[in-house]
Amino acid sequence: MRISVIGCGYLGAVHAASMASIGHEVVGIDVDAEKIGRLGRGEPPFHEPGFEAILGEQLASGRLRFATDFAEAADAEVHFIAVGTPQSADGRAADLAYVDAAFAALIAVIRPGSLVAGKSTVPVGTAARLAPLVEAAGATLLWNPEFLREGFAVKDTLEPDRLVYGVSPGDALERRPEVAVLDHVYAPIIERGTPRIVADWATAELVKVSANAFLATKISFINAMAEIAEATGADVTTLADAIGMDARIGRRFLNAGVGFGGGCLPKDIRAFTARAEELGVGASVAFLKEVDAINLRRRDRVVDLVLEELGERRYDGRVAVLGLAFKPHSDDVRDSPALDVAVRLHGLGVGVVATDPAAIETARTRHPQLSYATDAAAAILGADVVVLVTEWPEYSDLDPIATRSLAGTDPVIIDGRNVLDPASWRSAGWAYRGMGRP
Ligand code: UGA
Repeated sequence: MRISVIGCGYLGAVHAASMASIGHEVVGIDVDAEKIGRLGRGEPPFHEPGFEAILGEQLASGRLRFATDFAEAADAEVHFIAVGTPQSADGRAADLAYVDAAFAALIAVIRPGSLVAGKSTVPVGTAARLAPLVEAAGATLLWNPEFLREGFAVKDTLEPDRLVYGVSPGDALERRPEVAVLDHVYAPIIERGTPRIVADWATAELVKVSANAFLATKISFINAMAEIAEATGADVTTLADAIGMDARIGRRFLNAGVGFGGGCLPKDIRAFTARAEELGVGASVAFLKEVDAINLRRRDRVVDLVLEELGERRYDGRVAVLGLAFKPHSDDVRDSPALDVAVRLHGLGVGVVATDPAAIETARTRHPQLSYATDAAAAILGADVVVLVTEWPEYSDLDPIATRSLAGTDPVIIDGRNVLDPASWRSAGWAYRGMGRP
């Protein structure tokens, strides 16, 4: 089928290449000419494992191309909207300016009979608001939220846990013609037995935001237990292992540490509370404000631990910050706890040297005032305190003995992700501080 993907960020660019890989003829559109230029040359504008390979293959196949002009999308049968919905500059709500602009530009060119499938994460009610525009152009609107994780974006797109289609409310949702069209787009994925749920627009929109809200809540729950563990000498890692063995709870997303960040979880829970308040049901998700507060307190905790450990060395000590990305296998520093910790320590007058395998350039663009080292060894050289805040394998696998010979005298390791073995670090001569573990 002929497909257009509007918005070529992590979501859209990966979706475009993935759809080409299952045989469709795809054009990716974005207003950012530099990004489109890079994608067209096979150069990923962001770090995403596996993306460069699929991008190169699909460009070479002739099925994938990129353009800045919406007119290039005109003859597509299905249009995916994958633009960002960041937090608005003046509050908690989502900024829908990119969504609205994408719909306006697309509506001007689409053919009657085509399908518009929204993938962006939007406040509930957005599809119902936009549908009249789409219908006036003779097209149909479906909402098809995306659940991909950065770092696993290609795999999650081609092998999702489930597909969710949101159609206009009413009867016989499964029998809508637009459902058959999207089934055709995703045929190889559906044939593999991937569950597919057809719901109304509002449910589909809510599935996405409630999934992210649940994940954020799970992380903040374990981080709240970490706070209790810190007050009692208990070990939150063992606690997570033990409660996680109950299949109803599950061990995944129960890793305590410096907390969640990125372009999704933080802004999605804020947008959810803002939208619920608009709807008069703010109390229903007021707990998400506490989830946010717990999460942000973990960053304070890491900063406080560093200051405590530096003690009198506060202004002449050296601190190595390992990690800048919001999670490993990504160069994304949006709302990154790791970058936040580095920036706050620097702002407090602490001598910080930060490093990351992929995110130095994205961090430097936002915070040129920080000192960056090319790798962990260079960052740790002469450090009094080493703070691990993004659990890249190269940091989790650091050898405490070899690392000890690089650091200053009486060094301290602060394990902001609880991924190191405290005993082996202590026996190599480090003072070890974890997050909610003794
Ligand atoms: C998240 C969701 O997991 C995806 O399903 C969703 O599609 C995506 O948002 C989105 O809305 O686009 P992502 O932001 O890529 O994906 O990252 P996650 O893997 O969810 O991690 C989010 C943050 O939580 C990271 O900072 C990570 O370090 C932190 N985290 C995760 C923890 O602190 N503890 C955990 O146990 C797990």
